[in-house]
Amino acid sequence: MRRKIVAANWKMNLSIKEAKDLAHQILTSDLQLNEKNSVVLCVPFTHLHVVNEELSKHKVNSVYLGAQNCSDKLQGAFTGEISPLMLQNLNTTHVIIGHSERRQYQNESNELLKSKVETLISQNMQVLFCCGEPLEIRKNESQNSYVAEQLTASLFHLNAEQLTKHIVIAYEPIWAIGTGLTASPQQAQDMHAFIRSLLSEKYGNEIAQQIPILYGGSCNAQNAKELFSNQDVDGGLIGGAALKADTFLPIIHAMN
Ligand code: 13P
Repeated sequence: MRRKIVAANWKMNLSIKEAKDLAHQILTSDLQLNEKNSVVLCVPFTHLHVVNEELSKHKVNSVYLGAQNCSDKLQGAFTGEISPLMLQNLNTTHVIIGHSERRQYQNESNELLKSKVETLISQNMQVLFCCGEPLEIRKNESQNSYVAEQLTASLFHLNAEQLTKHIVIAYEPIWAIGTGLTASPQQAQDMHAFIRSLLSEKYGNEIAQQIPILYGGSCNAQNAKELFSNQDVDGGLIGGAALKADTFLPIIHAMN
């Protein structure tokens, strides 16, 4: 059985106090996680410290701390950047790489993302690698080749061991992010199955079957169960609905 993951992407939201309170609420509820079902909280850099404190206080198994980006360099004269080593100082184990908002607003290229992936793997960290197409691409039905190019350019240089140990893929169609327009369970399943077929072509079916593929884009307490019931959907990367315990906890339960 593949690992399942529900990851929160808080994006640029919440004060430090709100972050601490939300982490506390999540960690003190009955999550029913195990080594196959986990939760990752991807919080703003400035909030890692306080969320890390909550995590060490409550010691809940299978809840991990994540960041939303990092540098592809480990140290040096890179003003304003955050190194994976700094993240590890705060017990951060996971990093979102290639979110569409960073591709769009920070012009992050497939090549830069490839370099970030390599740096994170060199530090034994977990990568939540995002892919997904904009609306125009979906409208002309070229989403498969678009996503294939993103994965090929930034991930497919890895060997099978690096892939299975370090990579979780998140499919996030851009037209579904923050819009309330969720992909239908069939659209999600079709793309996830396509991604798995690409993995299988490159690495073989046994490896492809081990890689978790999460869905992101207006996933919420109402639609999570149906989305996650698809064969190739192994959980979700959650934005808006992860900002409150009462909308996030049901999504964790939908995974379980
Ligand atoms: P929403 O859940 O707010 O649509 O955001 C999804 C997302 O971008 C998670 O990374």
